[in-house]
Amino acid sequence: MRIRIEVLLLMFACGFEYVSCHETIVGRNFAFAEKQLRFGLTEVEAARRVKKNCKSTQSDTLKMVNPRSLNPDRTLHLVASKDWTSGFFPGELWYMYEYTGDKFWKKKADESTKLIKQEQWNGKTHDMGFKMYCSYGNGFRLTQNQQYKKILIQSAKTLSSRYNKKVGCLRSWDHSTNNWEYPVIIDNMLNLEILFWATSVTGDSSYYKIAVNHAKTTAKNHFRNDYSSFHVVDYDTITGNVIKKTTHQGFSDGSAWARGQAWGLYGFTMCYRETRNPEFLEQAKHIANYIFTQSNLPKDLIPYWDFNAPNIPNEPRDVSAATVIASALYELSTFDRENSTVYINRANAIIENLTTSYRSEPRQNKGFLLLHSTGSKPANVEVDVPLVYADYYFLEALLRKNKLGKAAENIE
Ligand code: GLY
Repeated sequence: MRIRIEVLLLMFACGFEYVSCHETIVGRNFAFAEKQLRFGLTEVEAARRVKKNCKSTQSDTLKMVNPRSLNPDRTLHLVASKDWTSGFFPGELWYMYEYTGDKFWKKKADESTKLIKQEQWNGKTHDMGFKMYCSYGNGFRLTQNQQYKKILIQSAKTLSSRYNKKVGCLRSWDHSTNNWEYPVIIDNMLNLEILFWATSVTGDSSYYKIAVNHAKTTAKNHFRNDYSSFHVVDYDTITGNVIKKTTHQGFSDGSAWARGQAWGLYGFTMCYRETRNPEFLEQAKHIANYIFTQSNLPKDLIPYWDFNAPNIPNEPRDVSAATVIASALYELSTFDRENSTVYINRANAIIENLTTSYRSEPRQNKGFLLLHSTGSKPANVEVDVPLVYADYYFLEALLRKNKLGKAAENIE
């Protein structure tokens, strides 16, 4: 009886089309992800046990909890909760629960989420949104767990402490103080979502105001005339003026680092959703236009790691940029109705190409879903590897496509 009810619930989750779900690209990818992430979980749990037995990693801040990538020797790279990527794996497990309705994923997601609880107090980085909103945020959305809500509100409070009124931005990094006085990176746009959420649940508008100011300052200073973006903008905290515009993970200060363009597209689309400010929608439309008019964008729409990388076509791709772009385009298609078909067709093409040419073989690569991402080419770190955030935004894009239903079919 119990099994029957679960099957019925599953059919309900798939709109009474569970059998045919497997015939869609979304269904086929989730069927693959089910097997691959179950395998991945066994690898992660084994790696956590090994790390636990290692004396030097006993304290909570050093404990290795969630996967980020593969090490050069192809072993699993687990990270501590303070790492900016620690929330993506729990986020993936929540997305599996969202799609399947299977309690197995809820249990595993909850376990993995709780491992980064202490981050709610970590004011030393701007990455709170990446960490806590992808994990606890999805968890709260799907379960209404009040404990998660409390942790998310504290996280938003901690993140707000990094806001400087004079600059009008949250500070991104505390490291490399010899290089920058007050660095703000384009990636930071993604950390605003937890602030919008905090205002919506607490009624305290201060979070919302910080997010809007940060987005406006970023729109003003991070973008060039063609709407490509700089990676790092450094500010003078006395005057609020820009000191310099540089890069850290891109090819050069003047180049367009692929994931940076993706963060910008995603961030301004999300800011439009939360504010309905037409300036943010315009910004997102311009960024999308920049990305898709680059002659250096390959035919399969999976960008090289930087649009201005010097040896294109002999440069590594960045699948993580592609999955962030695809997810953002599905959302943008719901706001910019005039161009919605174009956005959907591009996002669909990305998903199709990832599915056919960039997916891991089953039970390989420690359970990661997608290959060929690039973390930091200039540092020669994580070049042409699986990355947990590529997988997270892949599942998110698939869920967004699924929710769009018939509207997200190719129209060309
Ligand atoms: N947020 C860091 C990165 O995109 O590499």
